[in-house]
Amino acid sequence: MRPLRSIHVLCGIVMSVHVWASELPEERELMTNLSNLFLRKVPADLTPTTTMLDLSYNLLSELQSPDFRSVSRLKVLILCHNHIQELDIKTFEFNKELKYLDLSYNMLKTVTWHSLAGLRHLDLSFNDFGTMPISEEISNMSRLEVLGLSGAEIQKSDFQKIAHLHLTTVFLGLRTLSHYEEGSLPILNTTKLHIVLPANTDFWVLLRDGIKTSKILEMTNIDGKSQFASYETQKSLTLENSKTSTLLLSNVDLLWDDLLFIFQFVWHTSVEYFQIEHVTFGGMVYLNRNSFDYSNTAMRAIKLEHVHFRFFHIPQDSVYLLFTKMDIENLTLSDAQMPHMLFPTYPTRFQYLNFADNILTDELFKNPTQLPHLKTLILKGNKLETLSLVSSFAKNTSLQFLDLSQNLLQHENKENCFWPETLITMNLSSNKFVDSVFGCLPTRVQILDLSNNQIQTVPKEIIHLESLQELNLAFNVLTDLPGCSHFKRLSVLNMEMNLILSPSPDFFQSCPGVKTLNAGGNPFRCTCELRDFIQLEQYSKGMMVGWSDSYICEYPLNLKGTRLKDVHLPELSCNTALLIVTIVAAMLVLGTAVAFCCRYFDLLWYVRMLGQWTQMWHRVRKTTRQLKRNAQFHLFISYSEHDSAWVKYELIPTLEKEDGSVSICLPERNFDPGKTVTENILNCIEKSCKSILVLSPSFVQSEWCHYELYFAHYPLLDEISHHIILILLEPVPLYCVPTRYPRLKALMEKKAYLEWPKDRRKCGLFWANLRANIHVSSLETRDTCEPHTFTELKEESRGSALSLIRTDYI
Ligand SMILES: *[C@@H]1O[C@H](CO)[C@@H](O)[C@H](O)[C@H]1NC(C)=O
Ligand SMILES: *[C@@H]1O[C@H](CO)[C@@H](O)[C@H](O)[C@H]1NC(C)=O
Ligand SMILES: *[C@@H]1O[C@H](CO)[C@@H](O)[C@H](O)[C@H]1NC(C)=O
Ligand SMILES: *[C@@H]1O[C@H](CO)[C@@H](O)[C@H](O)[C@H]1NC(C)=O
Ligand SMILES: *[C@@H]1O[C@H](CO)[C@@H](O)[C@H](O)[C@H]1NC(C)=O
Ligand SMILES: *[C@@H]1O[C@H](CO)[C@@H](O)[C@H](O)[C@H]1NC(C)=O
Repeated sequence: MRPLRSIHVLCGIVMSVHVWASELPEERELMTNLSNLFLRKVPADLTPTTTMLDLSYNLLSELQSPDFRSVSRLKVLILCHNHIQELDIKTFEFNKELKYLDLSYNMLKTVTWHSLAGLRHLDLSFNDFGTMPISEEISNMSRLEVLGLSGAEIQKSDFQKIAHLHLTTVFLGLRTLSHYEEGSLPILNTTKLHIVLPANTDFWVLLRDGIKTSKILEMTNIDGKSQFASYETQKSLTLENSKTSTLLLSNVDLLWDDLLFIFQFVWHTSVEYFQIEHVTFGGMVYLNRNSFDYSNTAMRAIKLEHVHFRFFHIPQDSVYLLFTKMDIENLTLSDAQMPHMLFPTYPTRFQYLNFADNILTDELFKNPTQLPHLKTLILKGNKLETLSLVSSFAKNTSLQFLDLSQNLLQHENKENCFWPETLITMNLSSNKFVDSVFGCLPTRVQILDLSNNQIQTVPKEIIHLESLQELNLAFNVLTDLPGCSHFKRLSVLNMEMNLILSPSPDFFQSCPGVKTLNAGGNPFRCTCELRDFIQLEQYSKGMMVGWSDSYICEYPLNLKGTRLKDVHLPELSCNTALLIVTIVAAMLVLGTAVAFCCRYFDLLWYVRMLGQWTQMWHRVRKTTRQLKRNAQFHLFISYSEHDSAWVKYELIPTLEKEDGSVSICLPERNFDPGKTVTENILNCIEKSCKSILVLSPSFVQSEWCHYELYFAHYPLLDEISHHIILILLEPVPLYCVPTRYPRLKALMEKKAYLEWPKDRRKCGLFWANLRANIHVSSLETRDTCEPHTFTELKEESRGSALSLIRTDYI
């Protein structure tokens, strides 16, 4: 057990030592909290720099002189709730800075005094002293402000020693009181006196002396078991030089008569504010009309809170009127199980009435009342049901603040409401209101709390609340933020915990004045509609209360649980107009680029040529078997006289440069003069693997007639495309083609030819295309078209032919 406890203590020390900064930054305060550790001795290993030491709730029974020697900088020492029986103040002789010493709730019987001049707070209450532990040394503690004392006997002579000290608080925590010498308390000079009485004490004399002692008097534990409130006592209670203006009694258990005596007694003193808390009434209530003398008082406010009745038959009317006839400024009767309340029929001076947490019903408003000065009415936590009744009650008042929260209030549309113009703050939270409540609101209201009701929408056709600044609609069932067209001055809006999926744009447009918005805890749907809302926080930092932890997506399901802050909704995907503009712009740019390329780089020509290559490439891949043919030449070239220069100096040299052994059938070389031109041409076509026709206007005029017939044999152009290659050397406009050449027309229309480019830079592509045509056709027909001079294509050139794009009939 012992080692365990040592470990426990050690852990306690380690864990409870922490540092905080004092008002003087250079002086660090160090707190050591050793509370509640079952310590029997003050630990020897205290941190020397400790300035605050808590040893409360331990088992210490004595203090020894070296105990606090190590902690010389100690300022605060808490030793309450231990078992210390004897104390020598010399124990603290090394703690010159000690300011606060709490020794309450011990078993002290004697104290050996030494001077502790720096002490400001000394608490010796709830100890077992016989007489008050007051000595000459205490009288020397000129800085003392708070003094806690206890003792079974209280005598004038004890207090006389400290009469010259100007204390702020004297606390008498008494376990027993066997003797009180009348007139002792008023010797003290203190602002506040708090007496905690032992059970069954004659409190009257202490109450009377207390009222003569301090401005604030508090007495705890008052019970009237000892009945002595005789008529004589009451008479002798009238007192002249009373000082108290604030009187607080708590934990009171009295017969009704005694309580009434207290009220009557206090009524004629200097007390202005009288508060009784946690009070239980017993006995029978007898009241006749004149049993209370209301004359001659300083009283301004009475507060009775947490009242419990031990009797069951109360003459209700007279009890209510007893209080309301007091006609003071403030009256609080809360948590008192009161079912009703009555007011005098004449005008009263009440400014503040608080009947919170009772069981008041609409009956309260049945009798006419005259409360012209009433500014604050608190009826929270009752059983009121009809809002319009409250309004007619309030009409005759100058009410500014009305708290009707936690009732059962409702409002029917047909009922009329008449609120006073003065009403500016209204709390209607936690009732049963629906949308119709907006038909019964004071026009000048500035702060309106409608939280925790069942409001679904803010109706469009409501009166304008021009002064409304704060509106709380939290914990309702609204599905949207309200617009501000009816509340032009709105600056604080609370829409927490409603059913808002995505706030409508109306809010952003009509509510520029809203500075604070709380919309946390709503089931947000994180789609594009929410973008404005998310941006609202980005643009106005700090506007949203609870950002960002309370703002969570509920929908769509893949975003559920994500904070709005972390949701990314790109501008482009959300803004349709922007999207259209972007697409149009992109198309414009692209179009311009294409047009530019067409204009300056003849893009269309390249595209067409590339198309030809592509087709040829496909063609290569699905080569079909060809008719067997015996060939004598690789190529037959047919052209008009007009184009012979191009053929001789461009075409043939280029083809021969490619392959020196190429054999070409040319009209002027290989035509047989004995035969007709047509016969010669057909002969040559048949003897050659490939025929090239060089088209130009003059070719069409002079040569084409021979071919029109030949082409007529082949209704499908594809059939001849393997061995006829048309080269368009010069453009042949369609209208120049005579109608008698329908085949040529068809070919021209189909653009089934290779076009000789005007631009020399493009010639490379033309030659490549032509060569590819020749080679591909050769490949297709390689097995069959093998002139004796034709050399086998090299492996790599075959590869290149394959990788070129096959062009034929386009
Ligand atoms: C020390 O700790 C206890 C809880 O263990 C706490 O109640 C007490 O207030 C602390 N003392 C001080 C001076 O903070
Ligand atoms: C009180 O203080 C004065 C001067 O400060 C000193 O002379 C006197 O001895 C002190 N009395 C006691 C009882 O300590
Ligand atoms: C009580 O103390 C106050 C200062 O706190 C002083 O003004 C007043 O005169 C003192 N009263 C008596 C009776 O000594
Ligand atoms: C009466 O109540 C009002 C409002 O709470 C408060 O401002 C005022 O100080 C009170 N008056 C007294 C005498 O307690
Ligand atoms: C309003 O006050 C007038 C007198 O000022 C009184 O006659 C009338 O009964 C009061 N009305 C209500 C509803 O209390
Ligand atoms: C309204 O009353 C409730 C409790 O009844 C309280 O929590 C809330 O703060 C009050 N609102 C205002 C604006 O005073």
